[in-house]
Amino acid sequence: MRILAIETSCDETAISLVDVRKEGKNTKFKILGNEVSSQIALHTQYGGVFPMMAKREHGKNIIHILEKVLKEAKMHSLNKKPQPNIKLENKTKKLLDRENEIQDRWSDIMPFIKKPKIDVIAVTTGPGLEPALWVGISFAKALSTYWNIPIVKVNHMEGHVFSIFPKKTKNFTVEIENKMFPMLSLLVSGGHTELVLVKEGPASPTSQGGVKYKKIGQTRDDAAGEAFDKVARMLGLPYPGGPEISKLANIERSSSSKLFKFSGPRTKEDEEPDHENSNNSLPLVSLPRPMIYSKDYDFSFSGLKTAALYLIRDLKIKNPNILDDINIKQKIACEFENAVVETLVYKTIKAIKQHKIQTLIVGGGVSANKYLQEEMDKKVKKLKKSDFLNTKAYFPSKTLTGDNALMIAIAGYYQAKNKKFVKNINKIKAEGNLSL
Ligand code: KG4
Ligand code: ZN
Repeated sequence: MRILAIETSCDETAISLVDVRKEGKNTKFKILGNEVSSQIALHTQYGGVFPMMAKREHGKNIIHILEKVLKEAKMHSLNKKPQPNIKLENKTKKLLDRENEIQDRWSDIMPFIKKPKIDVIAVTTGPGLEPALWVGISFAKALSTYWNIPIVKVNHMEGHVFSIFPKKTKNFTVEIENKMFPMLSLLVSGGHTELVLVKEGPASPTSQGGVKYKKIGQTRDDAAGEAFDKVARMLGLPYPGGPEISKLANIERSSSSKLFKFSGPRTKEDEEPDHENSNNSLPLVSLPRPMIYSKDYDFSFSGLKTAALYLIRDLKIKNPNILDDINIKQKIACEFENAVVETLVYKTIKAIKQHKIQTLIVGGGVSANKYLQEEMDKKVKKLKKSDFLNTKAYFPSKTLTGDNALMIAIAGYYQAKNKKFVKNINKIKAEGNLSL
């Protein structure tokens, strides 16, 4: 089965083309083409993602990304004359025009592209920014009508769950065995922070794509990624804030650990405090771990963000130029990252113990966070000794922590395998708050 997957839920325009074959118990995926076009450079100038701006960029780029993917897959060829599609001209084009999504260039270029050998189109319909989602949906509808190929809808969060499977190579295998269940997924992104129990695998023909999900906890206010972005902004760091905070936090962690490292025999001078380089002269920086000991599996990051705001405000009252001091920025970044990671890890481990989880999947933009990966790994390994649990933790490879269409292709494959094709494509709509 060949799947063309389209993802436009936020600020990445992504298209993937994969070939899927079943070999015994395993499902083998071959990546024929895969492109992610990031709008980050644009949004950085404005300090965040504006949905209408994201929509415009997706609309402008998506047809070119499709052509790039088809070329990569060696499936791009052009008709000498445009091939009119009466159905599209008469029916769907009217609908697309009404949605005001179809760009002139799509309808100019599409009739020239020869129908490639594709069996199904998978498109993200939510959750995400609705104006952005609509671009991918309208594009999928247009391709489906033009080429007469069915569509399956994909939940973006389900995509993040599947994002752990592709490795660095073009070929990867999705092997889901009964012994891997129950699974737990910690999904942490710019819009979501949730703990999802996965009770059954894609083998069972229940729920979406055959996977049974149960959300056991979520953020009551801001998502973890959102808090990273907002605190980064307070510190004068560019968007997206997660990687920026992480960079500073890592420097702080390695420099403070150096203070305790024994590096040869001490001399008299070593015993004297070095005021130039020592961090001791800096004010104490401490932030709360909101809801860490609450009985449920919910999170809250809005209070932490406000605490960071007050901390910075108070420091600025004493010294208006305090943020010019990189050491202070590092300290705040590190304490903030510690607070988020400790909370995420604590609740996840608690859920693993309670539900006797065999497999932990961490996905979403924040799963790129190195400190989160290290701490989670460490605590999961510890479970083996004290709780006799053999839980294994998985994270996506570096290029797949953020939004991409490869994960949509994998989730889409299970939808198609379970014959969840959309019967009336005109009814597909963007669902900004779609839940798992
Ligand atoms: O999943 P994603 O790419 O888009 C959404 O669906 O939201 O996640 C983006 C979020 C941003 O908030 C970004 O700051 C955060 O992921 N992020 C990180 C890191 N890399 C990206 N947060 C913490 N540490 C990182 N290394
Ligand atoms: Zn995402």
